Amino acid sequence: MKRFATRAALVCLSTAAAAAAITCPASATAPSAPHGGAPNPAATAGLNPRTLADLDTSMQGEAYANASYTFYAAQADRENLPATARLYRRTASVELYEHFREEAALAGVVGSDAANLRAAIAGETYETNVMYPTFARQAAADGDDNAAALFTEIAKDEAQHLARFRAALDVVETGRGRIPAPPPVDPVEVPAGGPKVRSARTLANLDTAMHGEALAHARYTLYAEHAAGNRPALARLFRGTAEVELREHFAGEAKLYGLVRTTRENLTRTIAGERHEAEVMYPTFARRAEAVGDRKAARLFRHNAADEAGHARAFQRMLDHPQ
Ligand SMILES: [Fe+2]
Ligand SMILES: [Fe+2]
Ligand SMILES: [Fe+2]
Ligand SMILES: [Fe+2]
Repeated sequence: MKRFATRAALVCLSTAAAAAAITCPASATAPSAPHGGAPNPAATAGLNPRTLADLDTSMQGEAYANASYTFYAAQADRENLPATARLYRRTASVELYEHFREEAALAGVVGSDAANLRAAIAGETYETNVMYPTFARQAAADGDDNAAALFTEIAKDEAQHLARFRAALDVVETGRGRIPAPPPVDPVEVPAGGPKVRSARTLANLDTAMHGEALAHARYTLYAEHAAGNRPALARLFRGTAEVELREHFAGEAKLYGLVRTTRENLTRTIAGERHEAEVMYPTFARRAEAVGDRKAARLFRHNAADEAGHARAFQRMLDHPQ
């Protein structure tokens, strides 16, 4: 599975891209979502730019694994494989609450509530004004009307997320008014099946969009945790929006993309992805971090490589003995 090898090219989360707000050098035809904003400079002080970029790539992989495992778990439930479903849910939680969270801490992803809101606003603005309208136009031109309709619908949701986050930022900055209630969630099922679009460009755009949504879900989850102590209403807004990104947006796109197959196929792809992280991606990142003296990052990359090897083994057991 090439999900990590292609990630860096498909979705740019780099500091430079985020700072430029809407320009992404990755591709002219498939704009990508800088769903983030600049990292907290204090937290990243001294980190080599290469290490920071590797942390970005890793976080994208972790967020995507968390999102896809959530829907692979639901498929295992449908096939009456409860142990496999449990393993997917447990592993999804490790990818987000351990790997993503620890990488995000090193990369300085979470700042003050105001900084987090500004980062969220930058991402939502890009998706509303650039990414989804472009994807909708391209899908319509390619005859993928179902994808064009979905992209258009999601763009409208993102505009509402944007409005809510702007209103929340105003409350945080002025101390007046009320943080808006979170958007309602209307979960989408992702049944097993192949792609439901015909153009390769639409498929690539769906992939880019899914990575953006997975990342938004992961980031908003951390922003919600950060806000929970002092601003419970803001925590609810971030948490509720995170759910929409995963259960509606990612899920709606995954359905057209054909992400979920039979559990047997899902496991085969999962094992390949975990092995790639364990044997190629994280060891490479660890070596690079070590070489430039980023010891903490090197340690984290090595630790995660060992975890991913364990994930690969656990999934392999489910493949060998379906349960
Ligand atoms: Fe992971
Ligand atoms: Fe959004
Ligand atoms: Fe979204
Ligand atoms: Fe993993």
